[in-house]
Amino acid sequence: MDSYVRIFDTTLRDGEQSPGASLTSAEKLEIARQLSKLGVDIIEAGFPAASPDDLEGVKQIAQEVGNPSYGTLAEAFPSARVPIIAGLARANKNDIEKCWEAVKHAKHPRIHTFLATSDIHLKYKLKMSREEVVERVREMVSYAKSFCDDVEFSPEDAGRSDPEYLLEVLEVAIQAGATTLNIPDTVGYTTPQEFGALIKGLIENTPGADKVIWSVHCHDDLGLATANTLAGVTNGARQVEVTINGIGERAGNTSLEEVVMAMHTRPALFGLQHGIETTQIARASRMVSNFTGIPVQPNKAIVGANAFAHEAGIHQDGMLKNNMTYEIMKPETVGVNASRLVLGKHSGRHALKARFIELGYTLNDDELDQAFARFKDLADKKKVITDADLEALVSDEIASLNVLFSLDGMQVVCGTMGMPTATVRLKDPDGKTHTVAAIGTGPVDAVYKAIDAIVNCPNTLLEFNIHAVTEGIDALGQVTVRIQGKELQTRMDVQREMERTRTFGGYGADTDTIVASAKAYIAALNKLLIAMQAQENVANTEISLAA
Ligand code: KIV
Ligand code: ZN
Repeated sequence: MDSYVRIFDTTLRDGEQSPGASLTSAEKLEIARQLSKLGVDIIEAGFPAASPDDLEGVKQIAQEVGNPSYGTLAEAFPSARVPIIAGLARANKNDIEKCWEAVKHAKHPRIHTFLATSDIHLKYKLKMSREEVVERVREMVSYAKSFCDDVEFSPEDAGRSDPEYLLEVLEVAIQAGATTLNIPDTVGYTTPQEFGALIKGLIENTPGADKVIWSVHCHDDLGLATANTLAGVTNGARQVEVTINGIGERAGNTSLEEVVMAMHTRPALFGLQHGIETTQIARASRMVSNFTGIPVQPNKAIVGANAFAHEAGIHQDGMLKNNMTYEIMKPETVGVNASRLVLGKHSGRHALKARFIELGYTLNDDELDQAFARFKDLADKKKVITDADLEALVSDEIASLNVLFSLDGMQVVCGTMGMPTATVRLKDPDGKTHTVAAIGTGPVDAVYKAIDAIVNCPNTLLEFNIHAVTEGIDALGQVTVRIQGKELQTRMDVQREMERTRTFGGYGADTDTIVASAKAYIAALNKLLIAMQAQENVANTEISLAA
């Protein structure tokens, strides 16, 4: 058996199913670019049958990131590869056709189709007999195969399925042409011992098992996703389905960085290879957190703010003697602290462009002009500009692409005297400006009230997070927020076949944290408004503007 473990990233599909993780197409594309730099083997770019927007998003990624013409990036990043672009499809003709329509633009397309196999799903969700499920798998895997050579099949809720029945279903999937068999622990129910034994048993007993790649897909409901995934590869799986920061619905999916760094840090134990450029991990983590608005917990393994921090005196003393006393990985290996002084106040447009290319951003002339203006502005306020600052600026620019409302100016008065007051000027979708002043309990509240008076889109602020990009009093501040429309927005959860309430995240960065807060809120409002426009039942809703 080969020792190469394929990294299948599903941040843009299963990850995007996390509450509030809704991403714009520009953000999805930027994450896909970063995944390619990271060197993932397969990007699951979405669920094309979910909506025309989802189909378009997957197609865009297939066209760009899934093709070798995706040029300059490969030069700057030898690790960048042309990944397989996969789309998810339920086991029905319409989903499979839509999936093919989206992924066929990639050099290496994959259709990933699934059908539940646990009795509980058969009885309550599918209302199908075991025999009917077997037949549907045969028909739909063959149907997918009629479009695409590379077909993955997943028996959903395999972790709670009868292993004997799974053998039957998986044998049929192989006969029908599946090239990858993925075993999901959909509800994060299994333990490492059980899950490892399940994978071993399936590989040993499914007729034709040697013709396919075996894959594992674990959820973290009991905090065991990484352990289960590692048990899977130890028992013969050669593909792991993971997400950046472990985002995903409920407690999330297996996190890419944990699985990769476990194999990387313990080569003698696992004896497995992977194609990940580990120095790109921290950057991918920051990008996904910024765009989704889902903060990374400080004590998160590998990518948490404290993962490499050593505060207790005794530890620091040990570290000074030898890093290995308390560190099993070097922060640089995962790209933490890799930020360096890149440019200064006197650096020109050309130097900035060169640094952006090195970082993997391919900005057109207009985008570069804007970035340069912001860079100069930042350089006036902040002496030391690092890669992390440049990333934050670009994230902020991307978050403000194709939006309805944008910040045109603001002024805030606050302190211990008088009432916090904000005057905010926004540009509306027609380019008209609107200025409103409001008072609030604090400066952010005043700004948000002024924005609300202009945008007039009632919502609840569910979360507000603020943190600094780098150290120092002059650091850029990053804000992420999450909101929910008062008029609830729903999204079809195609896996569960039911509607779900949506929440929307927004991101903003600025040396002025109140400005960053305004940008984050406007970004979230834009996502909410776009979703409202997209929903047929609110297609005629007028977005009334305050004069
Ligand atoms: O968790 C799950 O079962 C899935 C499948 C669709 C692979 O996400
Ligand atoms: Zn899943």
